[in-house]
Amino acid sequence: MTRAPLQRLDTALTRHAGIDVPLICGAMYPCSNPELVAAVSDAGGIGIVQPISLTYVHGHDYREGLRLIRQLTAKPIGLNALIEQSSRSYHERMVRWVSIALEEGVRFFITSLGNPRWVCERVHASGGAVYHDVTERKWALKGRDAGADGLIGVNRRAGGHAGPLTAEALLEQVADLGLPVVCAGGIGDPAGFAAALRLGYAGAQLGTRFIATPECRASDAYKQAILAAGEQDIVWSERITGVPVAVINTPYIQRMGLKAGPLARWMLRGRKTKRWMRMFYGLKSIWQLKRASLDESGDKDYWQAGKSVAAIGSIEPAGEIVRRFAAAVTARATT
Ligand SMILES: Cc1cc2nc3c(=O)[nH]c(=O)nc-3n(C[C@H](O)[C@H](O)[C@H](O)COP(=O)(O)O)c2cc1C
Repeated sequence: MTRAPLQRLDTALTRHAGIDVPLICGAMYPCSNPELVAAVSDAGGIGIVQPISLTYVHGHDYREGLRLIRQLTAKPIGLNALIEQSSRSYHERMVRWVSIALEEGVRFFITSLGNPRWVCERVHASGGAVYHDVTERKWALKGRDAGADGLIGVNRRAGGHAGPLTAEALLEQVADLGLPVVCAGGIGDPAGFAAALRLGYAGAQLGTRFIATPECRASDAYKQAILAAGEQDIVWSERITGVPVAVINTPYIQRMGLKAGPLARWMLRGRKTKRWMRMFYGLKSIWQLKRASLDESGDKDYWQAGKSVAAIGSIEPAGEIVRRFAAAVTARATT
């Protein structure tokens, strides 16, 4: 099949990332696998590598995993650097991961949590760009002061750890900072993408939409649950990481309840115990989410997804999604 050439949509994000369509397949633990990342990038958007998903869930040596993606596409890919200073060994590992990514030619980075200054310094020295995940103005100021080139505005409709604000309110809070802002959360169809660009966003970051693709290695039960779910089926559970995570309200989630237990809540309040509890939750969630995403039986249905489920009606190749979204926006721009 011959495809019409993609018309380049010029925004600050396409310029920073060196891509044609201002559409990011966000990092997803445990759903980011090399084939998904490569398919989005190859179609003109950009796929973001989640390092723990690449190594622990999908079993690749980190550098070899990056090279595998490079074999699947020559187009730019990105890396998610979760820079919370939870432990020295984790920080050292993240520094290594960022360095290896730079050696392997990655030039677009998305930082989450913490202070992104050290990432910005290294990436800028190699001519790359860093966008920082934010849910509110205070984090955006921290990102800007650390040298971030752009912001990923995670709103209240997002899959994963959602923010407290609507897409409109979040953009309003950070619009005067002079940085491009990408809309993350709630976008499942081209109309949502076009609306975000019209609001003034420089692009969109999607997660849930890209799980319902043949390239994503999540179980078919998980993908079918995304197709079947509506907005009202998304709830926020504290039982996975200790802070609310958007999940599909399955019988398993209902049995578990949404709130952290009293001991966990008490430990999360203490200054010293908080760190231990976070580490415990971190390790437990890494294991639980891996098992739930790959398990075909659907018994342990801990399935992260955002409100965008409402607009997702079929399993569709990731590249087709990028092309369909791009076509809708270029059609609008030329009419
Ligand atoms: C299953 C799942 C896992 C996610 N894991 C991560 C992650 O590891 N790191 C991160 O920065 N964001 C993570 N996110 C957030 C996405 O990168 C993206 O911002 C979000 O999914 C956008 O909202 P949407 O799902 O409505 O498209 C995750 C989202 C989902 C759905």
